[in-house]
Amino acid sequence: VTRIVILISGRGSNMKALAHAASQMSNVNISAVISHRANSEGLAWARAQGLQTEQLVYDAAGGQTRAQYDQALADCIDRYQPDLVLLAGFMRILSDVFVQHYTGRLINIHPSLLPLFPGLHTHQQALDAGVRVHGCSVHYVIPALDQGPIIAQAVVPVMADDTAQILGDRVLSMEHKLYPQVMRWLVQKAVFLDEQGKVGFTQKLPLQQFY
Ligand code: GAR
Repeated sequence: VTRIVILISGRGSNMKALAHAASQMSNVNISAVISHRANSEGLAWARAQGLQTEQLVYDAAGGQTRAQYDQALADCIDRYQPDLVLLAGFMRILSDVFVQHYTGRLINIHPSLLPLFPGLHTHQQALDAGVRVHGCSVHYVIPALDQGPIIAQAVVPVMADDTAQILGDRVLSMEHKLYPQVMRWLVQKAVFLDEQGKVGFTQKLPLQQFY
């Protein structure tokens, strides 16, 4: 059984898509859903589903350092001994030490066709750049933000009258297909991070479904 911990911030729609897909697989266990925000909508949903949930809020007022927070987060995650840690709308930047602790096991979804539009407001960035295709990327996490090796991407058209909201919704519905599919491939060990830090494939993936 592949043990998976999912990290979220708020809404958690990608986490729901992952949890739904996992519930259809006999060889996957969503061991915990962890949020760094109090009163996260997604966490309430996960709890209602009977999933194990944890809330770990960064205590800036209490003088907690970033390194201390990341250590507490890693301790929390490691209690579940996960094979994979999936970031699903997790909006905190993680320290290098944290990222290196999970090399090859830490995956993120980003709402753009990386390496285009890292960071925030990716749909507005796409509209401002005038690109005609946009999408989302699932990638291994490395210390450099949004620059990790790409496992798979899904493409959507950009329409003339799109707003960031409309475009973002189009991308999000693809995220909900792409991330569960990548999770299945990871569980099957169809993809892996090789020694050179590149994505390796043990079989030909049907990626054209996302283009
Ligand atoms: C998703 O669009 C995800 O790709 C993005 O945040 C949203 C979270 O929605 N992630 C990032 O921007 C990471 N930098 P969700 O909570 O409903 O899954």
